[in-house]
Amino acid sequence: MNLYKYVSESINDKLGFTANLETPRNRAFGDFSTNAAMVMAKSAGKNPRELANEILPKLRELDFVADASVAGPGFINIKLRDDFIWRTAAEPHNATTATPKKIDLDYGGYNVGKALHIGHLRTSIVGDTFNRIARFLGHTTKSYNHIGDWGRPMGLIIAWILEYGMPKNADELNKIYPASTARAHDDETWLNRAKEITAELQSGNPQYRQIYDDFMKISLAQMDEVLHRLNLLPFDATMGERGVAPYVADTQKILESRNLLVESDGALVVNVRTDDDTAPMPPLMFRTSSDAQTYAAADLSAIYYRTKTDNPDIIGYFTDSRQNLHFQQVFRVAKMAGLTTAELFHTGFGALTGPDGKPFKTRDGGVAELLDILDMVRDAVHTRVTAAGKQLNAETINNIALAAVKFNDLLHDVRSDYVFDPTQITSFEGRTGPYILYTAVRLNSVLKRAGDQSDASANDLTDDERNLLIETLDFERTVQSAFDNRATDMIANYAYDLCQLANTFYHNCPILRDDVDAPTRAKRLGITRIARDTLAAAIDLMGLKIPDEM
Ligand code: ARG
Repeated sequence: MNLYKYVSESINDKLGFTANLETPRNRAFGDFSTNAAMVMAKSAGKNPRELANEILPKLRELDFVADASVAGPGFINIKLRDDFIWRTAAEPHNATTATPKKIDLDYGGYNVGKALHIGHLRTSIVGDTFNRIARFLGHTTKSYNHIGDWGRPMGLIIAWILEYGMPKNADELNKIYPASTARAHDDETWLNRAKEITAELQSGNPQYRQIYDDFMKISLAQMDEVLHRLNLLPFDATMGERGVAPYVADTQKILESRNLLVESDGALVVNVRTDDDTAPMPPLMFRTSSDAQTYAAADLSAIYYRTKTDNPDIIGYFTDSRQNLHFQQVFRVAKMAGLTTAELFHTGFGALTGPDGKPFKTRDGGVAELLDILDMVRDAVHTRVTAAGKQLNAETINNIALAAVKFNDLLHDVRSDYVFDPTQITSFEGRTGPYILYTAVRLNSVLKRAGDQSDASANDLTDDERNLLIETLDFERTVQSAFDNRATDMIANYAYDLCQLANTFYHNCPILRDDVDAPTRAKRLGITRIARDTLAAAIDLMGLKIPDEM
């Protein structure tokens, strides 16, 4: 259950108006505190403390209230009943929303013919977790991998392949684009040829199409590998710039019918600036002067297509923040042209930096490739585990490395930069993925060793026990807030807090020791199970895998 919501709605129903509910910093005062009396006192012109004392008996009638008391200028502290905590904590989580939405999610957005790099980490991880959160809440999502597969890079790659032959694997393929770009830089004929090929590819030249299809296979296979290594849900659609090309003409017609397209130096643009703009707001480029499909045209056509086929309530994008302006422009045009009535949102990420605060680079100074980064973190885990004298199998090491990377990524506010430090994120202590997994493994192992002796009917709870159970009752609210605020970091921070309480409970409340009597043991096993189930649900939303041992 969403405890916070239940308690606050019950109090508001009982008193007949809306007040704030808070969690007191010092839990000794109570599990919740409300400013109800202070709000009521204002409108009634009464003394808040007096009014609070009048309200207390009413609150004590509520099924969850063990005790209520007045504090400070008129706050009311509420302590929950143990049997209520037990009963509700033992229910399985059900956070299904009353108003399910259809949501198109756009993340990943990998580029064909280019290696995935560290910049693709966050869009993949945060996008995937947001998708899982939305589904957990009962929304229907469709995830789009809007791949970069139709622009000038394609012409540059094809030009190279025509001269030097087809690459045999992803490593060879991924070297072509930088090489061909460098050549185009010094050689105008080469550049023009690439432009020409791009235009002809887009209008259906069969030879170019064949080459394109061949290297596309290599790129798609590489994307699959990354998906697998990052344990991402499969995309519902891999449909990018090429996929939406057939809808550009329709989209253009709509823009024309609204008189939005303007000619500018042979190109077609839409002016999106308004008088309220204080920051620069250049026109959106719909078609270049060489008649090529633009990045913006692809996104507008994708909105047109998605609206037509999915009719979504929401379309959400996850990219790095360098694309903020692009999406502002696209959203403005989409609304001006009436392409969709869906709510549009874009979450722009900060960058991953090295310890020096500069963009994270490999040791030789290159842009770090995604798969290399995963290998690097896996090696860091391996070193650490070996140094601790442990032996773990390869799959476990991989799962720990996965948790290290993903948890750390989710932990930070998506809009801010963060330092990517393989040593720090693989630590088994602190706010790290390995710590989260370690706690889950510990809870699992207690349950495994105990067999089935748990009991969820005992009533009396110690502070450590009740704090842990109450935290599990905050899970559904956390998931809901993470969704509402598009703040996947809330899930990671929640998982950490839950682990802290679970470990405190584990240290202070012996379970399997000989001197623990049977009812206490059964109670604590019940608590362990509830904590484990909740933690496992949070871990699942982050797309991590719990190893058997650690
Ligand atoms: N391929 C783009 C890039 O790597 C990202 C695509 C993001 N999604 C979108 N609908 N534009 O920069």
